[in-house]
Amino acid sequence: MNAALAEAVIAGGRPVAAEAVLDARGLSFAHAGAGTVFDGISLSIRRREIVALLGSSGCGKSTLLRVLAGLETPATGEVRFLGQPQAEPHPRSALVFQQPSLLPWLKLADNVGFGLDFAHQPRAGKAALAARVAAAIEAVGLAGREGAYPAQLSGGMAQRAALGRALAREPELLFADEPFSALDAITRAEMQALLVDVVHRWHSAVLLVTHDIDEAILVADRIVLMGGRPGHLVQEWSVDIPRDREDHPDAVAELRLAILAALRHASP
Ligand SMILES: Nc1ncnc2c1ncn2[C@@H]1O[C@H](COP(=O)(O)OP(=O)(O)OP(=O)(O)O)[C@@H](O)[C@H]1O
Ligand SMILES: [Mg+2]
Repeated sequence: MNAALAEAVIAGGRPVAAEAVLDARGLSFAHAGAGTVFDGISLSIRRREIVALLGSSGCGKSTLLRVLAGLETPATGEVRFLGQPQAEPHPRSALVFQQPSLLPWLKLADNVGFGLDFAHQPRAGKAALAARVAAAIEAVGLAGREGAYPAQLSGGMAQRAALGRALAREPELLFADEPFSALDAITRAEMQALLVDVVHRWHSAVLLVTHDIDEAILVADRIVLMGGRPGHLVQEWSVDIPRDREDHPDAVAELRLAILAALRHASP
């Protein structure tokens, strides 16, 4: 039996793409008393694929991310993670938000390692966990700052630490909700490049929610546009521009215009 077929069988006979880390079908969600936020959303994310989710403010991007990450339960539809139905956040997923939300009383290394020994995490020895934490700190460029407390870090360093904490989980899929939007332009550009570098090295897939078309084009393999009320997925583009994309300004500008036009059209 080949690997793809084996995976389909493991998934309970339901045919899933062997390379899909996340497969969501027919999702809708409503806040109590606040109406339907989104409806009829299906989205697959392949292993190692970076998907950017763009859309105007309030269209439901963060809510969709929370449903896909297992933090909220959809009203209809199903989310599968590595072929299995997901009822809660999967231990091989990780989250990064706009605020780094580090614990102020823990040193950087302890923040990065926080939760790795929780019961729902795959069991690993102390030395293995320490090695994972050290590798994640090194990858985000914070080696030497392991003993620093969050108050001693700049905003960019704190967000690097939050990314390191996510990587230490060795995630198959990283959910990131506007992770760089609170940073200044230069730090943001550094972090975008760092994100692509580390997720390639870690072989992780990413769902990146962003307002920023340029960020989506620089970072993503595929861009998905959400819009409408209730929100739904209106269009998607594969980003076939070679990396480093800043060296291909004409292709970037062309895609930017296409996305901008669709975004205007999709905005309520
Ligand atoms: N806890 C809540 N209770 C009721 N309504 C909510 C709640 N959280 C969000 N909403 C509503 O759901 C809709 C989608 O919100 P969401 O935060 O997902 O949008 P978004 O696309 O992420 O926006 P932004 O780009 O500004 O972050 C909005 O209309 C918002 O007012
Ligand atoms: Mg949001």
